[in-house]
Amino acid sequence: MFKYQPTENNLAGKTILVTGAGAGIGKTAAINYAKYGATVVLLGKTVKKLEAVYDEIVNAGYPEPAIIPLDLKGATPQHYKDMVTTIVEQLSSLDGALLNASVLGELTPFTQINKQTWDDVMQVNLNAQMYLAQALIPAMTQSNSASLVFTTSGVGNKGRAFWGPYSISKFATEGMMQVIADEYEGSSLRTNAINPGATNTNMRSSAFPAEDKGSLASAEDIMPLYLYLMSDDSKHVNGQRLDAQA
Ligand SMILES: NC(=O)c1ccc[n+]([C@@H]2O[C@H](COP(=O)([O-])OP(=O)(O)OC[C@H]3O[C@@H](n4cnc5c(N)ncnc54)[C@H](OP(=O)(O)O)[C@@H]3O)[C@@H](O)[C@H]2O)c1
Repeated sequence: MFKYQPTENNLAGKTILVTGAGAGIGKTAAINYAKYGATVVLLGKTVKKLEAVYDEIVNAGYPEPAIIPLDLKGATPQHYKDMVTTIVEQLSSLDGALLNASVLGELTPFTQINKQTWDDVMQVNLNAQMYLAQALIPAMTQSNSASLVFTTSGVGNKGRAFWGPYSISKFATEGMMQVIADEYEGSSLRTNAINPGATNTNMRSSAFPAEDKGSLASAEDIMPLYLYLMSDDSKHVNGQRLDAQA
């Protein structure tokens, strides 16, 4: 496991957007960012799940989060621009963004990938990330230390049979991360990607329904890397693909 222990209030004063904040890794990351003092903006598809995360953060006494219900499948570039304008107006800055929400699609032989699955996976895992990043970057470059974090996968730099749309979308995500990192090298914005590794979540269960979940890392176990990349301790890290699990 990546090793990092943030100091108390390490993220105080930062505003951090987390996509897919209602469940799985995104939920755990949002709660951890709040625990270390950040104001988190919870973006997700299912309002009830976002409200439950909001309650958990407020009940723990962490800074009050904001909720943005948005389905990445149907959102347009204008939605993202409006969202960023609202965040900056209401919370004054945007210092971090964890682009975590993704879909698995269907695991199927390459020749049988159907158009709907391909389009849906590319819309959520790639197009939405691109338009989101385009909207986020101008606001994030106003921060004196901003961190944009994409989420990749073990199949994001090595293809795997039957994982076509998901794997290809993650390769493209890594490419996008590298392009942005190179364009903003030397600026106050750093851009990296996390490979979480096998983690006990709903997505993992859909991909491997029969496996022993007891052997998997929990979302909490992989948080050190998620916290490190949002902390100013990672200010010098740019353009990297980092593994949350060794
Ligand atoms: N778990 C693993 O073993 C593993 C391994 C490698 C990489 N990853 C990556 O890690 C990230 C998180 O995965 P996870 O395992 O935590 O997945 P998860 O449990 O399925 O959670 C995914 C989250 O994304 C949200 N989401 C999905 N489609 C969305 C849409 N159209 N609009 C807005 N939000 C949407 C979901 O919201 P709802 O709950 O409302 O649907 C959910 O909160 C993903 O990028 C995944 O590819 C995971």
